[in-house]
Amino acid sequence: MKITYFGHSAFLVQSDGFNALIDPFLTGNPHSSVSPKDLRDITHIFITHGHGDHMGDTEEIAKKWNSLIICNFEIADYLSRKNLQTHAMHIGGRRKFDFGTVKMTPALHGSGILTDHGMIEGGLPGGFIIEVGGKKLYHAGDTGLSMEMKLLARENIDLALLPIGGNFTMDIQDAIVAVDFIKPKMVIPMHYKTFDVINADPMEFKKQVKEVKVVILSPKEEFEI
Ligand code: NI
Ligand code: MN
Repeated sequence: MKITYFGHSAFLVQSDGFNALIDPFLTGNPHSSVSPKDLRDITHIFITHGHGDHMGDTEEIAKKWNSLIICNFEIADYLSRKNLQTHAMHIGGRRKFDFGTVKMTPALHGSGILTDHGMIEGGLPGGFIIEVGGKKLYHAGDTGLSMEMKLLARENIDLALLPIGGNFTMDIQDAIVAVDFIKPKMVIPMHYKTFDVINADPMEFKKQVKEVKVVILSPKEEFEI
């Protein structure tokens, strides 16, 4: 499994013909350094919740590559009305796909979709456990620290992508507790420094997490697990 970071919570996950984006916020993302036009053959797009900094460039990319969008029922309904291919799931649901297995996890957050006509219903926010190529990845989405994360220790997660920026999500202090709850083999911090209000230092997080390997990725940097 190869992971490429595009800043904020946006990642490309690749394994054997599986070219998936998670929360592809590229346009308007000050740290992305990649444009939707630079991406090729995107097979899947995972959306954790309806906020603009996570839906991002989904519509443009999915239209171009006919990508299957995997997200909650409400966002899937919203996007399928735009003639995009979607697969609706919901919190706690697990499903086998041809590439591997996906489970939606809970998140403590919002999921409204901001449109020209105001905010519309985006269901519950979530995260994803994606098992592909023999590796298990957890993308937490935007979330506060929750007791539900203790259940994730049973999933034997290889790599956890956790928000650390505070204000809208866990800060460093809470993300450290989340690592203890989830017990992944490795962690990559995300959702920091994009905006002034989430200006956390990932080095500070790395310094304080003792038991688990923390990998800090610069935008566009690739990482193989
Ligand atoms: Ni959000
Ligand atoms: Mn966000």
